[in-house]
Amino acid sequence: MNILTFRSTDELNEAGASIITGLVQTNPRAVLGLATGGTPVGIYEEIVNTHRKGMVSFKSATSFNLDEYVGIPVDHPESYRTYMNHHLFSHVDFAPERTFIPNGNASDLEQECARYNQLLDDAKQIDLQLLGLGHNGHIGFNEPDHALVSGTHIVKLKDETREANARFFDSIDEVPTHALTMGVGTILKAKMILLVVRGADKAEIVHRALNGPITTECPASLLQTHPHVVVLLDTESGRLFN
Ligand code: F6R
Repeated sequence: MNILTFRSTDELNEAGASIITGLVQTNPRAVLGLATGGTPVGIYEEIVNTHRKGMVSFKSATSFNLDEYVGIPVDHPESYRTYMNHHLFSHVDFAPERTFIPNGNASDLEQECARYNQLLDDAKQIDLQLLGLGHNGHIGFNEPDHALVSGTHIVKLKDETREANARFFDSIDEVPTHALTMGVGTILKAKMILLVVRGADKAEIVHRALNGPITTECPASLLQTHPHVVVLLDTESGRLFN
């Protein structure tokens, strides 16, 4: 595991973006696993800047998002499809038919999970999976539990996850109770994992995830078993390493 700590958010975002754009420059047909949430916003901004300078094209690339809320329309302001359009897809040249996000509004959610798993199988392997980290150690929406699921599945969000995400909604009551998420098996199958974490409030979970025991009660701790993980931290989230 390669852990890099940055003094400024700008430097962290530039590093994250250049790892992703560097991969696509050398492998234009790369399959990217993408994340949402607060953490990657600045990275996407940098990727858009690099694209605008003509230095990277996504026209032959494919993307798979980690997760999507259940029960809000695809065009809801807080759906992850809307997020991705807003922060990345509308500003770069991905072919829309190769940007995949689970449909949390499908009439048959089990079938939707099976469809997403099939798409992932067809793509063979994600070249780079971008991840943020939940305060409780979740990756994607794989919440701490006594057992974890390998493939895409429906998950009931923990109260702490709904509380953390309430900042994006008018009130906690509007935060969906369930989501569809890629499973840990799919995440760990990626060729390379890029875990990005910022903020003092994540210092303890960063420490538990990267130094603590490998346990399904901290899904991110499973990353310790992966052969190629790069972790980007700011000074605050990396505080317990120093
Ligand atoms: C987002 C996702 C989540 C977030 C995590 C951290 O697609 O899968 O695991 O990465 O909840 O969220 P932020 O970055 O908002 O702190």
